[in-house]
Amino acid sequence: MDMTQEIARRRTFGIISHPDAGKTTLTEKLLLFGGSIRSAGAVKSNKIRKTATSDFMEIEKQRGISVATSVMSFEYLGKLINILDTPGHRDFAEDTYRTLTAVDSVILVVDSVKGVEEQTERLMEVCRMRNTPVIIFVNKLDREGRPPFELMDELEEKLQIAVRPLTWPIGMGQHFRGVYNLGERNLYLFQAGKTVVEEDRVLVERLDDPVLETVLGSAADQLREDVELIEGVYDPLDQTEYRSGNVAPVFFGSALNNFGVRELLETFVRIAPTPTPRDSDLRPVDPREEKFSGFVFKIHANLDPRHRDRIAFLRVCSGVFRKDVFFHHVRHGKNIRFSRPYSFMAERKNVVEEAFPGDVVGLYDRGDLKIGDTLTEGEGFTFRGVPSFAPEIFKELVSTDPMRSKQLDKGIQQLTEEGVAQLFIQDRGRRKIIGAVGELQFEVIQYRLTNEYGAACRLQPLPYARACWLTADDPKALAEFIRYRDRHVALDRDGNPVYLAESEWMLRSMIRDNPGVRFHFTSEFKTATSDETNGTRASVA
Ligand code: G4P
Repeated sequence: MDMTQEIARRRTFGIISHPDAGKTTLTEKLLLFGGSIRSAGAVKSNKIRKTATSDFMEIEKQRGISVATSVMSFEYLGKLINILDTPGHRDFAEDTYRTLTAVDSVILVVDSVKGVEEQTERLMEVCRMRNTPVIIFVNKLDREGRPPFELMDELEEKLQIAVRPLTWPIGMGQHFRGVYNLGERNLYLFQAGKTVVEEDRVLVERLDDPVLETVLGSAADQLREDVELIEGVYDPLDQTEYRSGNVAPVFFGSALNNFGVRELLETFVRIAPTPTPRDSDLRPVDPREEKFSGFVFKIHANLDPRHRDRIAFLRVCSGVFRKDVFFHHVRHGKNIRFSRPYSFMAERKNVVEEAFPGDVVGLYDRGDLKIGDTLTEGEGFTFRGVPSFAPEIFKELVSTDPMRSKQLDKGIQQLTEEGVAQLFIQDRGRRKIIGAVGELQFEVIQYRLTNEYGAACRLQPLPYARACWLTADDPKALAEFIRYRDRHVALDRDGNPVYLAESEWMLRSMIRDNPGVRFHFTSEFKTATSDETNGTRASVA
């Protein structure tokens, strides 16, 4: 198979949801279709259970699971599908945001009982920022959920995206009869408790066909009415609009009962984009380019504290990644090769000889790689789109054992390189401030610093609630701003100044009173468009 064919058969997507909507269950059913796993229960949930916020064994266990479930690949109808898993827990949202930079599309799972939940809205905001194509799966139709038209309106309103149902439910909960495939015009009947892959389909050429009464009884009329309404209200799905991230096709089903999943998967393979071009600081990079390029979007520390090596997850963007071949590490300006790169096939990890655009490879790393690093075949560009988002909780890291402060420095540097949280420094590095999205991240940091690095420490709460990266056209204006507010300014890992504000209100007034200084809500400000600056992206953090 040549490179063009390899690219054409790949689909790389992320699966996202608010915790408990059914992401793990759906992933498992997708893998079952692909024959990658043989039994239910093989995919472990990567979520931190609600009761387990201080149970560190649980955190360690989840870390193991999330290495195993980071990428799951399977084949279906001749396509090679890579699923990138994302943590559902809000406190690890940053990890999810970064994973979304490595996908070409997304499947979003929504619970039909709960509708659009907070975490779903935030994740969708990141998809919108990047115009990522989204397919929505409304799950748990076997439960008494919200009326489907009401859900459609809520999806459009809260997710700020046009929707287009491609299947439609007939009843719900105890009265759930099945789904009607609006495109293929067939009916797919539900049988409670039937979890097998085979399905019963009834072809319904015309909706006035009396066969509808035979199989649905009194629900037939409701279906006719619903379909008429749908066809009157929603335009037919335009694939270009879907691929531009403007309209989201919607499917209904029950992941637990493996119901409605095949419809979803068949459409996904048909319409989801193949590996798409990626922006770099120098030029867009097309996947069909001959020369290899890729970027690191995630780093996982080895679970064994005696070994300092880590696994870096690299998305291949162009050309062919090859084992044992030297590639150019753009940030270090040196060449580097990998003798044991891994690919992931559900439960198995295999050493790969080569990988194509859209694939994710796991690279053993002894500290050379950071999140956002680009590897190429010689060219010096860096991929855009792996930003750090402004954290919301800040704590000062204080060593409680001066004899171990070197270990503490090393530990915190490595943990922040892994993306566990962000490190800001003040006072030439003497004051270290950790910024995170959730409390759980601090618990992980303190636990790992103590256990892996033997560095006892304390995390002292700071009053800041918002952070913004600073730039200015006039360097003097920036220097002046920093000089007068040095308690509120720290440097990020690359030495860029960051303003720390006690409240959203203070930040807004600071922005208003300093028109000569620009405030950015993600670290990717060098090439940020104007709407990513000065506050309009404030809610993505
Ligand atoms: P997540 O990864 O998005 O967090 O969700 P997960 O798949 O773990 O599903 C959350 C809960 O919802 C699980 O129940 C799961 O069995 C259930 N679930 C998933 N899909 C459906 C569905 O279509 N219908 C119904 N009724 N339930 C569904 P749990 O009791 O929390 O866990 P478990 O003990 O069953 O694993």
